Amino acid sequence: MASLAARMASASLNRSVRVAAARNVLAPAGLAAQVRLNHNSARETTNIPDFSKYKSGSGDATNRAFSYFMVGTTGAVSFLGAKTTVADFLANMSASADVLALAKVEVDLSTIPEGRNVTIKWRGKPVFIRHRTADEIDEANAVNITELRDPQNDAERAQKPEWLVMLGVCTHLGCVPIGEAGDYGGWYCPCHGSHYDISGRIRKGPAPLNLEIPAYSFEEGNKIIIG
Ligand code: FES
Repeated sequence: MASLAARMASASLNRSVRVAAARNVLAPAGLAAQVRLNHNSARETTNIPDFSKYKSGSGDATNRAFSYFMVGTTGAVSFLGAKTTVADFLANMSASADVLALAKVEVDLSTIPEGRNVTIKWRGKPVFIRHRTADEIDEANAVNITELRDPQNDAERAQKPEWLVMLGVCTHLGCVPIGEAGDYGGWYCPCHGSHYDISGRIRKGPAPLNLEIPAYSFEEGNKIIIG
């Protein structure tokens, strides 16, 4: 009877192994032997080509030098490209030749008679040029500048006494004063009643400062360049 039970247990174990093999799994733990299934170690399923003939014959140092060379070259090319881009951008932002030409204005003074005003346009603003008489120069120099709101000698305002060059913009709120008008025989701003003398200095009214003197220079041939 015991022998029959042993044979039945052995047959049950063999059946379990066969079932596990059919399901492609390992035999349960506790079995005396594990059965590894579906593994064909004898057959090579992945064939890797031999690339050894493409391998560099040189050493590491040569490869490293080549890498450094490539990195350096790429950096240099990138730098030159960035430099060119920035240079082009700045060139586009700078003033063009026609704009620069308008920055300066040349005036022929020989066309302005003594005792007369001329108004020209410079950078969008009026510029007064007065050919002053000897009496007007004396009058400008006779003023006690300590009494002025914006003390300035006439010599500080005119490079040559006979020529007075000023921006025609009231220093109060920017109106354009009228020439040969006002209480001091110079310029008068009708907007709020500012009076400037024959040197363009503020003498009365709300304007805080004298009329501004622009940059200018005298040139050959009785010409002046403003700007
Ligand atoms: S703007 Fe000339 S007095 Fe006001």
